[in-house]
Amino acid sequence: MKSQDIRKQFLEFFKSKSHSIVPSAPMVIKDDPTLMFTNAGMNQFKEFFLGNSVPKSNRVTDTQKCLRVSGKHNDLEEVGHDTYHHTMFEMLGNWSFGDYFKEEAINWAWELLTGVYKIDPDNLYVSVFEGSEDRDKLGLDTEALQLWKKIVPEERIIYGNKKDNFWEMGDQGPCGPCSEIHIDIRSEEEKAKVPGRDLVNMDHPQVVEIWNLVFMQYNRKANGELEELPAKHIDTGMGFERLCMVLQNKKSNYDTDVFTPLIAEIEKITGQAYGRSEDSNVAMRVIADHVRAVAFSIADGQLPSNTGAGYVIRRILRRAIRYGFTFLNTKEPFIYKLVALLSKQMGATFQELKSQQSLMENVIREEEASFLRTLDQGLVLLENLMKASEDRKISGDKAFELYDTFGFPIDLTALILREKGFTLDEKGFEAELKKQKDRSRAATQVTAGDWNEINQVEADAFVGYDQLEAEVKIAKFRKVESKKKGEMFQVVLNKTPFYPEGGGQVGDRGIIMSSDGEVIDIIDTRKENNLIVHFTKELPKNTASDFKAIVNKTERAKTASNHTATHLLHQALREILGNHVEQKGSMVQSGYLRFDFSHFSKVTSEELEKVEKFVNARIREQIGLEEQRNISFQEALDQGAIALFGEKYGDSVRAIRFGESMELCGGTHVPNTADIWYFKITGESAVASGIRRIEAITGEAAMHYFENQTEILDEIKSGLKNSKDPVKAINTLQEENAALKKQVEGLLKDKAKNLKSEFRQEIKNINGVNYLAKKVDLDAAGIKDLSFQLGEELDDLFLLFGTEQNGKALLSCFISKELVQQRDLNAGQIVRELGKFIQGGGGGQPFFATAGGKKPEGLNEALQKGESFIK
Ligand code: ALA
Repeated sequence: MKSQDIRKQFLEFFKSKSHSIVPSAPMVIKDDPTLMFTNAGMNQFKEFFLGNSVPKSNRVTDTQKCLRVSGKHNDLEEVGHDTYHHTMFEMLGNWSFGDYFKEEAINWAWELLTGVYKIDPDNLYVSVFEGSEDRDKLGLDTEALQLWKKIVPEERIIYGNKKDNFWEMGDQGPCGPCSEIHIDIRSEEEKAKVPGRDLVNMDHPQVVEIWNLVFMQYNRKANGELEELPAKHIDTGMGFERLCMVLQNKKSNYDTDVFTPLIAEIEKITGQAYGRSEDSNVAMRVIADHVRAVAFSIADGQLPSNTGAGYVIRRILRRAIRYGFTFLNTKEPFIYKLVALLSKQMGATFQELKSQQSLMENVIREEEASFLRTLDQGLVLLENLMKASEDRKISGDKAFELYDTFGFPIDLTALILREKGFTLDEKGFEAELKKQKDRSRAATQVTAGDWNEINQVEADAFVGYDQLEAEVKIAKFRKVESKKKGEMFQVVLNKTPFYPEGGGQVGDRGIIMSSDGEVIDIIDTRKENNLIVHFTKELPKNTASDFKAIVNKTERAKTASNHTATHLLHQALREILGNHVEQKGSMVQSGYLRFDFSHFSKVTSEELEKVEKFVNARIREQIGLEEQRNISFQEALDQGAIALFGEKYGDSVRAIRFGESMELCGGTHVPNTADIWYFKITGESAVASGIRRIEAITGEAAMHYFENQTEILDEIKSGLKNSKDPVKAINTLQEENAALKKQVEGLLKDKAKNLKSEFRQEIKNINGVNYLAKKVDLDAAGIKDLSFQLGEELDDLFLLFGTEQNGKALLSCFISKELVQQRDLNAGQIVRELGKFIQGGGGGQPFFATAGGKKPEGLNEALQKGESFIK
C-alpha cells in the first residue's frame, strides 16, 4: 500500500466515525510561548483542552506535521543512527473534545489496525498506565485495562510506568495516562528466541511504538499539582512513517516510499550506494530526514537564522551538511537539489511545498554554501590548533571557541583529532557548553504561576475593532517571572478592546481604570492559546472591581496607518515586481513598518520610486476600508483575497479590502487610506537569499522625516554660502577637489624622486649591507613606494624609516629578499621588536613590514637600534 493511501485510509476511517478532517497546523508555532515547533498533533487543540475556546466540532482527525528537536520531546541525536526516529514526521491523530473517551478510542484504534489495515493482532502489544507512587499518587488505569482485556489476550498487555504511560506536553498544561500500541515486526525465528513483550520500550528497532492513545483528564499546574480537567478528552498520535514501515513490510522507515525516492536521489547526486557502509548509511538517512524538516519549516515561513526557531533550523541543516561533508564527501551544495523531489512527492498533501519550492531551494543552497565555507575555515583553524599543541591535546575551551564562534561542529572536531592521533578534552568542552546553555536558559526562562479565576471570559472577547474603550472585569490573572523582564502580571479580561500582538502587528498599550479611580498601565498585549493576555507591572488593589479599559489611541492610530500601508505596499510590489512576490514576514508598530517578501534581486531605486508612487496614489484616492468579519475561508479566496503560508486560518476568516488590495488579516486598519497621509520608504535590504526587506514610515513619522531632510538641506545651503543652486555648487566643489588631489599626488611624486637620490647618497655599507635608517616626511604609501624603488636599484638593502603623522608614529622596514634568506632576517619581527619604543606594534612580510605606535618621541631610539640587526 502506498503511503498516500495509508494516510487517506486513516482519515477516511475516522470520517466514517463522524470526525471532521482538519488541515495540519503550521509546524512553526506563533502564539504559544512554551513551544517553538509543533511537537504533537494536539498542540493546535490545546486551547480546547484548556477550555479557552469552544471547538466547532468535538471530533476531529488530521495528519499533523511535527518537529521534535528541542524541549521536552527531542529526538535529534538519534536521527539517522536508528531507523525509526525523525526530526520532522507526520502524526496521524483523532481527537475527542469532551465527547467520547477511552472505550471508543481503544476500540476504534484496534478496529483500524487489525480490521482495516489488516495487521496481524498477534504482533501487537498494548500498554496501560500502572499508576505512580510519587506525589501525584495515581492508581492503575483499570478502565483502560478492562477495555483492552476484552480484545487482547492478557499476556500482551503491558503495565507501563509514568515515563512511558503518562503523557505531558510540557511542564504545565493538559495531560493524562495513556495506552500505547506497539508492534513486533521481527522474523518468526527471532520471535521464538525472545518474546516480544520483553522488548517493548527497549529501543529495539523492530519492536516499536506505533500509536499512543492519551486520555486527557488532568491539568498540570505551575506548582506541579494535578487538577481534574472540566471535561475529558481523547488525544491520539500515530507515527505515520512507522505505520508505513509496518504496512509495506519493511524493517526501516527509510525503506518505505516516504524516504526511498529521497535516498535514491542522494545516491544519484553523491554517486554512492545506500547500504554500502554504516557511516554513509547514517549520513544518507540524516540528510533524507533533515531536508524534510528544513524544507517544511521554510515553507511555513521560518528561515534559518541565529536566534530562536531559526537557529534550530540552521542547526538541523548544518547537521545534514556536515554528515554529507564527512561521510559522503560532498564539498558543494547539494541538499537543495532534493527539494524539487520532495515537493513533487508531498505537494499534493502539503500544498505549501509546491508554492514555496524556489524559496526553499534558494535558502537551502545559500545556507549550504556558507556553512561549507565555515567548514573550510574551521579545518584551517583546527590545523593551527594542532600545530600549536605540544602535548597532542586540545583543550575544551579551544574546541568550544571553534564550535561557538566559528560554528564548527564538535563531533567533526573530535573525529579529525582522533584520526590525527590527538585527544580532545571532551569533559572540558561539555562544561563550556553547559555553562553557555545555563546562561541562555536563565536569560529566557519564564516561570508562570497558576491562574486566579474571578470571572468568565466571554465568547468573542475581542471588541477592539469597533471600540477603543470598554467597561470590563478581570476574568483571571497570574504572576509571571523572567530574568529579562522581571516580575509581571498577566491579566485576562472578560472582554477587551486591546489588540493582542499578531499578524506582525504589535500588541496595544494603554490603561485599565478601576471604578474607584486606580489606574494600571497595560504595557503589552499578546495572545496565548487563544486567550488575550494583558501584561502589567502591578495588579490593581481590588481585582474584583469594575474597570474601564482604554487603549492608547494615538499609538493605535499610527499602527493602523502603518498596517494599511503594509497592505498597499504588498499590492504595489506585486504590481510592479510581479506576482512571485509573497509576504514572508512583517512588523507593524506605531513608529514604522517592515515588510519582508520573496524576490530574487535587489529592488532598484527606480522600482522603489514606482512602489512609493503607487502607494501614495492609493492614499490620495481616499479608498474606504471594506471589512468582512466572518466570511468563509474559501469564499474569501474566491473573492481574490491573499492568504499567507504558515498562518493558521480557521473556517471563518476576516478579509480586509482597500480597492484592489484584499488580504486575510486580523489586524487593525485605518477607515480610509487618506488617513495614512503619506508613505515613504526608508530602507531596502536583503534578509536571506531570495528574501528582501522594505522599511517605511507613514503619517507623522513621514512628516518628521521631511522636516529633517529640509533642515539638512538648509545646513548644506548655508555651508555653501547660501548658493542659489546647491547641486551645482557641490559639483563644482567636487571637481575642484579632484583637481587639487591630482596636483598633490604629482607634487608628492616629485618629492619622492628627490628624496630617492638624496637617500642613495646617504646609504652606508655596513658589514656588506646597504644600510639606511632615518626619519622621513612621507605618508605610509609614499614610504612603501620609495623603499621598493630603492630596492630595485640596489642589492643587499636594509631600510628603516620612521615618520610622524597626526601625532602617531609609523615605522617601516624593507629588506632585500636575498638578505632575508642569507642572514635569516625578518622585517616583521624587527618592527615588532622596535614597536616597543613607540608604544605600538605591527607586522607584515619578512621583506617588508610596518608598525604603528602612540609615541612619536620614541622614533629616534628605534631608528638607532636598527643597526643592531645587521651586526
Ligand atoms: N500527544 C500524544 C503524543 O504525542 C498522542 O504521543
